[in-house]
Amino acid sequence: MKRYYLWTIGCQMNDADSWRVAERLQSLGYAATRRPEEADVIVLNTCVVRQSAEDKVYGRLSSLKPIKQRRPETVLALMGCAVGEDTSSLQQRFPYVDLFVRPSDIESLIDFIAGRYGSADYQQPAFSAVHPVSCCVPVMHGCDHLCTYCIVRLRRGSQRSRRPAEVVDEVRCLVERGAREVVLLGQNVDAYGHDLPDRPTLAGLLKAVHGIDGLWRIRFLTSHPADMTDELIEAVARLPKVCEHIEIPVQSGDDEILRRMLRRYTVARYKELVAKIRRRIPNVALATDVIVGFPGETEEQFMNTYDLLREIRFDVVHVAAYSPRPGTAAGRLPDDVPPQEKERRRRAVEELQRQIAAEINAQFLGQTVEVLIEDRHKGKWRGRTRTNKLVFFKDERDWRGKLAQVQITWTGPWSMQGNPAQTSSSPGHSR
Ligand code: SAM
Ligand code: F3S
Repeated sequence: MKRYYLWTIGCQMNDADSWRVAERLQSLGYAATRRPEEADVIVLNTCVVRQSAEDKVYGRLSSLKPIKQRRPETVLALMGCAVGEDTSSLQQRFPYVDLFVRPSDIESLIDFIAGRYGSADYQQPAFSAVHPVSCCVPVMHGCDHLCTYCIVRLRRGSQRSRRPAEVVDEVRCLVERGAREVVLLGQNVDAYGHDLPDRPTLAGLLKAVHGIDGLWRIRFLTSHPADMTDELIEAVARLPKVCEHIEIPVQSGDDEILRRMLRRYTVARYKELVAKIRRRIPNVALATDVIVGFPGETEEQFMNTYDLLREIRFDVVHVAAYSPRPGTAAGRLPDDVPPQEKERRRRAVEELQRQIAAEINAQFLGQTVEVLIEDRHKGKWRGRTRTNKLVFFKDERDWRGKLAQVQITWTGPWSMQGNPAQTSSSPGHSR
């Protein structure tokens, strides 16, 4: 039997792509291995959003060179955001790579492997027996924004939405195989459908997916503050299966930095949007992304971001130190905030957020929350609330894919623990 080794870093979009690659290879009869040295096919699914991710990719690729030298017949493919339109410099640097695959271009990868080896001996079930309870479903690829720091849009191209019927069919199929939650993915998911002739909207897609029997929860990410519509907020408020959890990157709390990032909103507009979301969806959990140390960011401008985060009190903040990316507009500006200063700002945001998240989560102490259990981790069941809070508990019963009413006995900034009270066969949709 032929074997594949799949290595993935980056965002949920990459995880979703890798899941699809694995599924396709398994349906061709390939089995997964954790040891690249025994694989017939090695796929690295990559991220280059920051220099640190890029360094990991090239480190991993270099470490595979001896394997490829020992077993030249092994297919070695580099996939994802490391692969731009022009691959000549990658080919020169890594001549032992057989194939460079653009992000999400799963068909080219599978065609190449099938062309090289054909189908392997078919001894496996078509899909792995254990299907994820929560599945990511890309509903669009690429992005039409021009954020000046962002390499992702350069690598993933302009926006291409999938047709609603195709998405609904895929979700139905996932539910038949055991999924209970789907996360609809796009780099800027709020702009879903803008590129299709009849201009369907994300709100419309949520309604369509909502009608699928057996599906309990729906999430979507990532939102863009300039593209979030009242129609979408209304859909989240009204559709019981759509979780009250919105990821809406702010990136900076300073208007001048936002302008230079080309984010297309002001801090005032962002605050109005948050107020509107909170009015319409009272228990909503909000997550955001922040970049510190963007070129020219002064201490005062950084403090504007810090103060905004203190004022809004997000449930989750993903904070990153700015990393200049080749080919981007900001990459041509002087990267003039010293690394130690970027790190100081990053840590200050992390520390603030640790306190805020701990305070928000502490309010759940003693409460009973509905948790969809996804898997077992280090001897405990692990799941999420509708607001995307991680909850762990110990129990002998099999909880995978079930909803548990969990009484919270301990809370921390990143997770909670509790005791399961009862299972429910269907969700209460409690808000
Ligand atoms: N489309 C999403 C959005 O609107 O933010 C995700 C883009 S990117 C994959 C995810 C996050 O990485 C961004 O929100 C941003 O905070 C961070 N990021 C992107 N480019 C970066 C850079 N050059 N340096 C540091 N962080 C960066
Ligand atoms: Fe990148 Fe901005 Fe799009 S962060 S993926 S250009 S919304």
